[in-house]
Amino acid sequence: MSKTSPKVELHLHLEGAAPPAFIRGMAREKHADIAGIFDEAGHYSYTDFWHFLKVYDAATSVLRTPEDYHRLTLAVLEESAANGVIYSECFLSPDFCGGRDVSAWRDYLNAIREAAEIAEKRDGITLRAIVTAVRHIGPEAARETALCAAETAGDFLTGFGLAGDEKLHKPKDFAWAFDAAREAGLRLTAHAGEWGGPESVRDALADLKVERIGHGVRAIEDLALVDELAEQGVVLEVCPGSNVALGLYKWREHPIAELDRRGVKVTISTDDPPFFHTTMTREHERLAEAFDWDEGQFLRLHKVAAEAAFCDEATRARILKQLETAA
Ligand code: HPA
Ligand code: ZN
Repeated sequence: MSKTSPKVELHLHLEGAAPPAFIRGMAREKHADIAGIFDEAGHYSYTDFWHFLKVYDAATSVLRTPEDYHRLTLAVLEESAANGVIYSECFLSPDFCGGRDVSAWRDYLNAIREAAEIAEKRDGITLRAIVTAVRHIGPEAARETALCAAETAGDFLTGFGLAGDEKLHKPKDFAWAFDAAREAGLRLTAHAGEWGGPESVRDALADLKVERIGHGVRAIEDLALVDELAEQGVVLEVCPGSNVALGLYKWREHPIAELDRRGVKVTISTDDPPFFHTTMTREHERLAEAFDWDEGQFLRLHKVAAEAAFCDEATRARILKQLETAA
């Protein structure tokens, strides 16, 4: 898979995709001092996942207006498109975009959508948005987040999810928010099975009734669960480079290949690429090295991703055709 071969990415946090130089530029404009979150080389610097979440919040603190998010979206999609991504789904949080106020959130979402339309014409990349509740902000806030999402659900905002610290709260604490999102016609995903074990994946499926799982890789610790995922066609948004960067696995030991062999629908994403020193191109290079995967294997997984995308059928057909044509 070369840099330009077409790719479909389902799991990308918009702020987490912000290039460090972009965030430094924003900080300068706002006279904000966030120098402490970068190392000498100018990369984001953190010690573990929980510190990463803090650094993420600090970086995000310089994004303060819909216009900032418009510029961020343009920068992120330019980089994704340069790595061959033709379709992307981004996680957005009303917590960061207007403090969960519906009217403010609408302005942010419109600004992001306008940027996505520019990028689609400029770079040939299509974006859909997934609102995520932030787990460590708690279930009460998640209800407000779900209401923001429900109010703005449509052809651009198509999904609802749950991110943040997997060790805090239980999926069932967020059931109300997920029910509200489902009733608004949004499709559902939740982070699980990264810092929580297989039971966290079972809980997300049972209590939130999601059709995709963010990460989900620790399902491999329970082969009965792996069989269930395969039978039910649950799609895993696997982010191998993120897992490696955070010390969960080494490349050759990453469970993506075993999950795939056992019939689970796996897909490939970057999560927060500059934080994890990755790109979609690099993910493919590392997977090819680790598992001897060839072009045919990657094409198959990108078709799985296109089939699982939270988009309308015309968009899905177009993406599948683009994948086919390039093969
Ligand atoms: N994982 C969980 N929560 C997050 C992430 C992530 O990679 N990025 C932003 N919030
Ligand atoms: Zn994630």
